[in-house]
Amino acid sequence: NQIHQNHQPLLGKHLMITAGATIERIDPVRFLSNDSSGKMGLALAQAAYHMGAKVTLIAGKLHTPPPAYLNCITVESARDMLAAVMAQVDHADWFIATAAVADYGIDSPMPQKIKKQGDNNLTLTLSQNPDILQTVCQLKNAPFTVGFAAETEAVIDNARAKRLKKGADLICANDVSTRDMGFNSDDNAVTVIGEGWEKSLPKASKAQLAYDILLACIEYHTAHSA
Ligand code: CTP
Ligand code: CA
Repeated sequence: NQIHQNHQPLLGKHLMITAGATIERIDPVRFLSNDSSGKMGLALAQAAYHMGAKVTLIAGKLHTPPPAYLNCITVESARDMLAAVMAQVDHADWFIATAAVADYGIDSPMPQKIKKQGDNNLTLTLSQNPDILQTVCQLKNAPFTVGFAAETEAVIDNARAKRLKKGADLICANDVSTRDMGFNSDDNAVTVIGEGWEKSLPKASKAQLAYDILLACIEYHTAHSA
């Protein structure tokens, strides 16, 4: 197949990659989360490793455990993920944000299991989580940054706007409107978007697409760091 096992264009680079879904705790036995499997992030981490990179994976909930050869830091909430990212970012040449970070979290998770209160309803107050990718992009010595934009409509336009808003070098526009691609699926297709530069990568297995995405990122990075 097209996967190049002996080609190591990322030798000497350190990549930090977020993957999976964050878990926002309500109480010790309950949480809010989402349907992300972490497959795309894991595939990118594995592809980067095989391309010669040193990889630090910062993972929320994953459907399959990461291979033992990857250096993986496991976190729960978006706030924990941000703290783990900030603790490692000085060592990273590239930051790839694939995690499905909950946009809202629970302010103060209850230390004990919540009991039903008579016949009353329960109201949870959610507050907006920090934006991890945007925080990294705004750093003075930011690494080369790659985000993902999960969109169900106006995919390319929304992704272009997201790249500019966050200040990322590249964003991978991901159409999640169909169940056979993207979220929690084995296949995916993306358009990699940079400044005046776009590359559409056709539907493929996430393992193959991961190589294609990294090669596109390398192409853009090489052209823009000269
Ligand atoms: N992201 C992040 N921290 C957050 C939210 C998102 O790092 N708190 C990252 C994701 O990992 C992804 C990119 O930002 O790389 C875009 O995520 P997405 O959910 O598509 O965008 P949002 O900015 O959260 O906008 P919205 O969900 O409202 O479309
Ligand atoms: Ca979001």
